[in-house]
Amino acid sequence: MKPLPYAQAHRERFLDELKEFLTIPSVSTQPRRKTDVARAASWLRDKLLAAGFPKAMVMPTAGHPVVYAEWMAAGPEAPTVLVYGHYDVQPPDPLDEWHTPPFEPTVVGEDLFARGGSDDKGQLYIHVKAIESFSQTAGTPPVNVRCIFEGEEEIGSPSLGPFIRENKSLLAADVALISDTHIPSKDQPGIIYGLRGISYLEIEVTGPGHDLHSGGYGGAVHNPINALCAMIASLQDEHGRITIPGFYDDVRDLDPEERAALAKVPFDRQAWLAETGVTADWGEPEYTILERTTARPTLDVNGIWGGYIEAGAKTVLPGKAHAKVSMRLVPDQDPAKIGRLVAAHLRAIAPPTVRVDVQGLHGGEVAIVRRDSPAMQAAFKAYAAAFGREPVFTRAGGSIPVVATFKNVLGVDTILMGFGLPDDNLHAPNEKFHLPNFYRGIETIIHFLENMGAREV
Ligand code: BES
Ligand code: MN
Ligand code: MN
Repeated sequence: MKPLPYAQAHRERFLDELKEFLTIPSVSTQPRRKTDVARAASWLRDKLLAAGFPKAMVMPTAGHPVVYAEWMAAGPEAPTVLVYGHYDVQPPDPLDEWHTPPFEPTVVGEDLFARGGSDDKGQLYIHVKAIESFSQTAGTPPVNVRCIFEGEEEIGSPSLGPFIRENKSLLAADVALISDTHIPSKDQPGIIYGLRGISYLEIEVTGPGHDLHSGGYGGAVHNPINALCAMIASLQDEHGRITIPGFYDDVRDLDPEERAALAKVPFDRQAWLAETGVTADWGEPEYTILERTTARPTLDVNGIWGGYIEAGAKTVLPGKAHAKVSMRLVPDQDPAKIGRLVAAHLRAIAPPTVRVDVQGLHGGEVAIVRRDSPAMQAAFKAYAAAFGREPVFTRAGGSIPVVATFKNVLGVDTILMGFGLPDDNLHAPNEKFHLPNFYRGIETIIHFLENMGAREV
């Protein structure tokens, strides 16, 4: 049997295994889930060994472990592919909005609902099953394969940079391969060549420092929540343009060729409105929705809190107010520089009646990858073969900071071969993975590895 029919014949078992993976609540941000994160790591190591990797191990870091595997079966002349994925997931909250429990994977129609279904356990597992399809048929994969699967992606990968810098020879490769993005629609494959960077800040505004009776003091003590809201409101105009001086200084404008190419990416406005639940789009009118969400920088409040938020009314003038704010960045903005700029601006506009403290939480660099490399050709042909339709080149608005780390530390370019869909509800209730994409994903990766091995690209 050949790898492709093998993969087709074992779909049911592949799905059962993925479901088992998805029952482990590997929520990296929650300290109480630490043992579950560790359990997901050893589960994955066992599956890598079962898939044929002669070497697979759980490697400790200062935080959650890295799972590393290698199979250098194709010899020193053959290319080496470095597969990256993350086995940690976002918290499932708000729980009561899930139609089925987040860690009890449930198939409804052609979709598998579970936290991590698409981001990223389902997409990561595609690679494990593609390799198994070679080991059980051809005997070995057609290229050398190394895998690095981390457990801290959703918290900004604090241990991954040091791990990569300390294990350069373990990670030496010709190209990196990541399935942690989406394609435009279930029948239209796409290759993402650009991701936004990110800079994430937390703001604390201190007013009186302790709560006061809002009747006794309101009117003469500046409410820190009111002050925070006014500051945040001033950061953006009604067209979505960020008003912080210097914010756009390093932004490289989209060139006309790229705008023309992006304009050809299929975009269904009605589907987009349905997917988001909004009645109208918003933002810079001179850019399309796809441009605004992938190639323009943003500033969003991710959370804001303070004062009384339980049931009923409490007349309080709160002592403090807080907000989490993130900026999505585009070429050539630098996350650290933008973080400093925004923090300094917030301190500068703080009214003298409150104290403003700003802390950086994490950052990630922008990623733009070449579209003309041999590996990109291999990916292009692989999608065309598995989906029966040529992929489009597009950009995405999310961030995968490791792409820049691979380039800067290992000198390796990344190919983003995503298999999610835009409406997979990543980071939200009812996350799902479209099962035909899981199966086609395995087939696409089989084609990709064969193309890379044949070097007929
Ligand atoms: N898989 C996503 C990134 C993504 C999603 C890219 C969709 C393109 C399309 C990843 O798991 C993620 O959530 N990344 C974070 C990065 C952050 C924690 C540094 C993000 O984008 O918010
Ligand atoms: Mn992800
Ligand atoms: Mn994510």
